[in-house]
Amino acid sequence: MLSPRPEVLALSEVIHGALNHTELAALGIDPASVIDFSASVNPFGPSPRVIEAIANSQIHCYPDRDATEFRQALASHLGVPKDCLIAGNGSSELLYLIGLAFLRSADQVLVVGPTYSEYSRVAQLMGATVSCCQASPRSGFQFPTRSLEESIRALRPRAVFVCHPNNPTGQLTPTAAIYLWADEFPQTLFIIDEAYIEFSPDAQSFTKSIRDNIVVLRSMTKAHGLAGLRLGYAVSTPAVIDLLARVRPPWSVSTIAQNAGIAALQDSTYLQRALASLAAEKTLLEERLAALGAMTFPSETHFFLIRVANATATRQQLLNSGILVRDCTSFGMPGFLRISPQTPPQNTLFCEAWKQLPVGC
Ligand SMILES: Cc1ncc(COP(=O)(O)O)c(C=O)c1O
Repeated sequence: MLSPRPEVLALSEVIHGALNHTELAALGIDPASVIDFSASVNPFGPSPRVIEAIANSQIHCYPDRDATEFRQALASHLGVPKDCLIAGNGSSELLYLIGLAFLRSADQVLVVGPTYSEYSRVAQLMGATVSCCQASPRSGFQFPTRSLEESIRALRPRAVFVCHPNNPTGQLTPTAAIYLWADEFPQTLFIIDEAYIEFSPDAQSFTKSIRDNIVVLRSMTKAHGLAGLRLGYAVSTPAVIDLLARVRPPWSVSTIAQNAGIAALQDSTYLQRALASLAAEKTLLEERLAALGAMTFPSETHFFLIRVANATATRQQLLNSGILVRDCTSFGMPGFLRISPQTPPQNTLFCEAWKQLPVGC
């Protein structure tokens, strides 16, 4: 076999939430019997208008490579020009396009952690050197403003990855600090991942003020419930968007995804209702878990952390009861689970399973 690029061999293992069908097959568990609290997706699913748009999609032609109508719908929704937008096959694709377009071997890259592992993986794949600036559990995982500023000054990184609100901690980013640094360090690209921003009513979006060295990533898969369809977008200046478009594989966003995206944006009433129900479910679940003695951490999103003695063992125990949670060990947090509230009956099943956990989990 040909030897691959060394960066490929050095890549860290891919660990994410959501059902791992290979794992479940090995355990003899039917995926249909598992309730997924590990993926932070709107549990009420997409708007009925999305289902209709999918059914009416023509698939014998290639999709519009530029997703023009979807971007037009987004432009009106966000109040930004269409040239400032690019669609992707999930925001994941756009992360890799940013790597391809901007990161070079030996670049310094800063990641604000603990956070989504794909930032480091993209940077490593491009041969960059990754450093992490960590939020601490002692401060409730608040954004590490001071240490990040010190790291930016010391390293002068090519890129800084920030998740806003952060996965898995649910904490927000101070927007003013990022804008100050973006002005002071024009040679640093700030990648702000807003995949979960719809779940955080108090969050200020970075799409409101766009600069050449800020790229905002958005996902349509989470709040709009389109995880299986794959749709996301990036917001930046036309010059940056043009560079991302140059490295994107053709037709990466299907006609079905584009049509679904337009329909999802049109049904804001459905989204607002779903998000309000989910917020109420989160509060209720937190209260019920607290009453059962669980140590939950406050978050600015729908998902939240629970402190446990051993996250891997507790995840396994819950999986045996048909409940999948996110073991945060791969985030460097072996004493935490991340859970995302589901529908009311499913949350009741979660609490039942929690009660059955052996002492010490
Ligand atoms: C913080 C964060 N960003 C991006 C993604 C990828 O989302 P998408 O489905 O849009 O590719 C995820 C998925 O879990 C995520 O947690």
